[in-house]
Amino acid sequence: MYIQILGSAAGGGFPQWNCNCVNCKGFRDGSLRAKARTQSSIALSDDGVHWILCNASPDIRAQLQSFAPMQPARTLRDTGIDAIILLDSQIDHTTGLLSLREGCPHQVWCTDMVHQDLSTGFPLFTMLSHWNGGLNWNRIELEGSFVIPACPNLRFSPFPLRSAAPPYSPHRFDPHPGDNLGLIVEDLNTGGKLFYAPGLGIVDPDLLEKMAEADCLLVDGTLWDDDEMQRRGVGTRTGREMGHLSQNGPGGMLEVLDGLERPRKILIHINNTNPILDEDSKERAELDRRGVEVAFDGMSIAL
Ligand code: MLT
Ligand code: MN
Ligand code: ZN
Repeated sequence: MYIQILGSAAGGGFPQWNCNCVNCKGFRDGSLRAKARTQSSIALSDDGVHWILCNASPDIRAQLQSFAPMQPARTLRDTGIDAIILLDSQIDHTTGLLSLREGCPHQVWCTDMVHQDLSTGFPLFTMLSHWNGGLNWNRIELEGSFVIPACPNLRFSPFPLRSAAPPYSPHRFDPHPGDNLGLIVEDLNTGGKLFYAPGLGIVDPDLLEKMAEADCLLVDGTLWDDDEMQRRGVGTRTGREMGHLSQNGPGGMLEVLDGLERPRKILIHINNTNPILDEDSKERAELDRRGVEVAFDGMSIAL
């Protein structure tokens, strides 16, 4: 299986357009050693030609341009995107669908909950129905697994995560299973197994077991500290409130990852306030010590 990291940042990207936190400012004035990052999205393929997009970020146009296999140029109008999976209905994971309107109809795989959000609070399904057939909804059930015809050697096993529905969701304060998903993706030829969960609020024993069996983890790397947004003076919400488990401290993501032997460990969906973006920070050095990587745009992984 080919895994291409198209966007490794959380909502807002890095640097964020209106942000002067130490990271964003330091990146702009050249005092910080760090890579710019676009908003959260990966692409998966079993043959390197047919791709499944996981999440459609507002930065999708630049992301597709930066990865040549997405433009296979077999016909006058052509794309490598054969299907789209949405893990939630957050703005940073869905807004890119608007930019893909010229290529409608698209096959979109998501849960009932995400489909509902995208037909009400943020009605992308309704809006895009005016563009050549729009979005064809393929329902993701919360149990079992599914295969997408374009990549028949990839088996997707979704699992509901305890995280949060977006602020515009009609059930923002009434969480439902299926608001947020994680995915196990298994290559039926190579046996390679990916665990992908860019928005992960709580790791329960069941989930830990799934993580332990994977070859590679791409997991929530949003925040270093739960109250980081407050500490940096840019917001009031905690990681917990947003459904993101922070890395530092007791019960944090690093402690969870420390307990796992087998998988390669990679953080993704990094918020622009996170000190791990600074490649010279003590937090980044700690990740190195623990064998934890930080995803970057353009990173390729083969399993
Ligand atoms: C999240 O991951 O919590 C959201 O994408 C935040 C946002 O951009 O609104
Ligand atoms: Mn997000
Ligand atoms: Zn910032």
